[in-house]
Amino acid sequence: MSKITPKDILGLKGKRKITMLTAYDYPLASLIDKAGIDIILIGDSLANVVLGLESTKDVGMTEMIHHSKAVSRGVKNALLVGDMPFESYQINPGESVNNARRFVDESKCDAVKIEWFDRCLEVTEKIIKSGIPVMGHIGLTPQTADKLGGFKVQGKDAQAAEKLIHQAKAIEKLGCFSVVLECVPDRIAQIITEELKIPTIGIGAGLFCDGQVLVTHDMLGLFDRYKPKFVKQYVNLSESILKAIEEYKSEVINSKFPDKEHSFSISQEELDKLRASPGDRD
Ligand code: KIV
Repeated sequence: MSKITPKDILGLKGKRKITMLTAYDYPLASLIDKAGIDIILIGDSLANVVLGLESTKDVGMTEMIHHSKAVSRGVKNALLVGDMPFESYQINPGESVNNARRFVDESKCDAVKIEWFDRCLEVTEKIIKSGIPVMGHIGLTPQTADKLGGFKVQGKDAQAAEKLIHQAKAIEKLGCFSVVLECVPDRIAQIITEELKIPTIGIGAGLFCDGQVLVTHDMLGLFDRYKPKFVKQYVNLSESILKAIEEYKSEVINSKFPDKEHSFSISQEELDKLRASPGDRD
């Protein structure tokens, strides 16, 4: 299998569903890539699920690049998308192209993701014109959730849904190679998916999208501070990890670990020599 490109992702529309997961470090990125997932997103959800911060607005370029470098070391095939942190394009849109360039160059990402905000089109156009592929993100955009009435489903009435359709089309027109639809009613996601030529990747947007994304720590049961309705937990790793740590603790306290299998030995002859001539140990 060879490295997946944004063009490959575009080509999958209407052929088969696209798979996408988040990663923030080498071990999970390697496993996700090995499983054959198409796109790995170094999401700014890093803030919540790895760094224990409240808001995705709390991570910056330094943290995103640090984690993206670790991810890219573990990935051979998947398309790597770096989530542009809030400060890098919303606080200072004038610096967005330089920041996107730095992100891609330093962390070896193949593309960046931009959440919808009031100057989204201007910033997206400049980044695409600079030669960097962009994935859009509309619906519930966590970086500006406060302006959307909180973490709520978006596009629930005809007027709000119309707005989402316009945003999706504007993003497509600028040349984005795909768009994430977050927390959108499934029938609205279906309309957007049917009206766009670029693939839609849903999270809380139902079955009709061209692909699906989940935060890996949510689907593996590694994050339980909150659990959105759209998350399906495929395994409860927290439970297994806790059990293993408790077993280790008990074995150490009760002198059961390390056993012979996990210790190194010295021959009796060498041990006897050592005992016969203790030498000067002071
Ligand atoms: O940061 C993230 O994990 C995301 C996904 C929810 C799409 O943006």
